[in-house]
Amino acid sequence: MLNASELIAEYEKTGTLEALPIGHFIDGSFARPAHNRTMESYDPGRGEVFARFTAGGEGDVDEAVRSSKRAFETSWRDVSPVERARILHRTSALILENLDLLAVAETLDSGKPLQEAYGDVKGAARTFEYYAGACDKLQGDSFPLGPDYVGYTIHEPVGVTAHIIPWNFPISTAARGFAPALAAGCAVVAKPAEQTPFTALLLARLLYEAGLPAGICNVVTGTGAEVGAPLTRHADIDHITFTGSVQTGRTVMKTAADEVTRVVLELGGKSPVVVLKDCDKDQALNGVLGAIFENAGQICSAGSRLVIERSIHEEFVAELVSRTKSLQLGHGLSKPDLGPVNSAEHLAKIEGFLDRAKVRGADVLTGGSATHDPASGKGWFFEPTIVDRVSDKDELAQEEIFGPVLTVQVAEDADDALRLANDCQYGLVAGIYTSDFAKAHQLARKIDAGQIYINEYFAGGIEVPFGGNKKSGFGREKGLEGLASYCKTKSIAAKIA
Ligand code: NAI
Ligand code: MG
Repeated sequence: MLNASELIAEYEKTGTLEALPIGHFIDGSFARPAHNRTMESYDPGRGEVFARFTAGGEGDVDEAVRSSKRAFETSWRDVSPVERARILHRTSALILENLDLLAVAETLDSGKPLQEAYGDVKGAARTFEYYAGACDKLQGDSFPLGPDYVGYTIHEPVGVTAHIIPWNFPISTAARGFAPALAAGCAVVAKPAEQTPFTALLLARLLYEAGLPAGICNVVTGTGAEVGAPLTRHADIDHITFTGSVQTGRTVMKTAADEVTRVVLELGGKSPVVVLKDCDKDQALNGVLGAIFENAGQICSAGSRLVIERSIHEEFVAELVSRTKSLQLGHGLSKPDLGPVNSAEHLAKIEGFLDRAKVRGADVLTGGSATHDPASGKGWFFEPTIVDRVSDKDELAQEEIFGPVLTVQVAEDADDALRLANDCQYGLVAGIYTSDFAKAHQLARKIDAGQIYINEYFAGGIEVPFGGNKKSGFGREKGLEGLASYCKTKSIAAKIA
């Protein structure tokens, strides 16, 4: 097995990695369908093709779903919980054994800085470890029906689950869907984003190597239209976990309605970071920077709106701009502060937001334009950007940009900050920076969001439920609550006298 520097050397020399699979992962192997159609995957740091993968279609989806259904009914449903736990534990260990390959592949496919890719892969291992511990604790309830009856519930796996995965956190999103689904006894058919197919394929093989029966985790690659759509309308899919845009989420929900298939939707965000005048300034500055510039802002839960009290606004923003100007851009493999964005199309979308804002006379304090890797002159980069004094009705404060663009909204006081925080169609997360314990928790209760971070943005891990309010979607992933999507409660009541 090659280590990271050997993999990077191979990439420098050949422009690709030999270890990347080609073919869907179905029934325990990388199958190349007869149609043999392929697509290209790009390294966003260079803006160049670095690998090919299979462009699937409806027939491939059908084969994968049938394989999963067969495997679910014949092998997996009745595997004992403790044996499921052991397989998930072994998967966690195998992910760590393959850390270098998974991280380098993730960086090449998504563009993200290598140190962030390492964090994501380790997080995926932790996710399997966490849900391994839950397999044999899916306990039901019993009911006091009096001496003549017995009443209890059991949690059954929902069946074959579809997982539609976006390109910003490929292995993390795959893991947080696959692990609870498998822990609950479900089968998985996944469709990674066409921009970032490789780590989901590698993960499916590791699950198989860890002892998961063939067919219980299948991965079909290709576009949303050709693979995602047939997967979500397939009659043998019992549940869909979707992460992505609001627009596609709506389509998935409508499609799911035809077969009355269950859905969990994890959609966009425009999350506020509320910074009050009594905060620890250094803690808040670090938090705000990480909230918007990690993964170049391509995070559904990015803190993309700084909502700050007027009395500290000027001083705080001046320091923020100075720190932002010192961020190093570069190819993900060079471990920069900020990597590229994922695709040329996405770069154009971010550019459009800033071009329109400039026409409206926006106060762009730093950044604001597309650029390249300073070392190579290549790649799809956007400068880390801060736009000051944005009105709450401006599209910069209302629409998800999904890039390294922070908008600043000035609040008169904590009440005004609350109003601004909630004045948005999304409700995914919110950050609060203050040293006033009571005020922090009062705000936490009143902000309409699925999760609140106090004095550390992105605090918490797999233990903490995650999901959206308003247009950010519904249903919760992560935590024990994340298991609920993959279980059906069955109530049993019996007369015994
Ligand atoms: P998208 O929502 O279209 O793509 C997400 C996944 O859905 C991909 O795997 C895609 O192939 C699949 N998909 C597309 N059409 C489908 C269909 N009809 N049926 C089933 N699956 C389908 O998002 P896209 O185009 O990649 O990005 C657009 C915007 O969405 C971004 O600019 C960003 O604002 C937002 N986004 C939000 C994410 C989040 O984490 N909540 C992740 C990715 C994008
Ligand atoms: Mg790619």
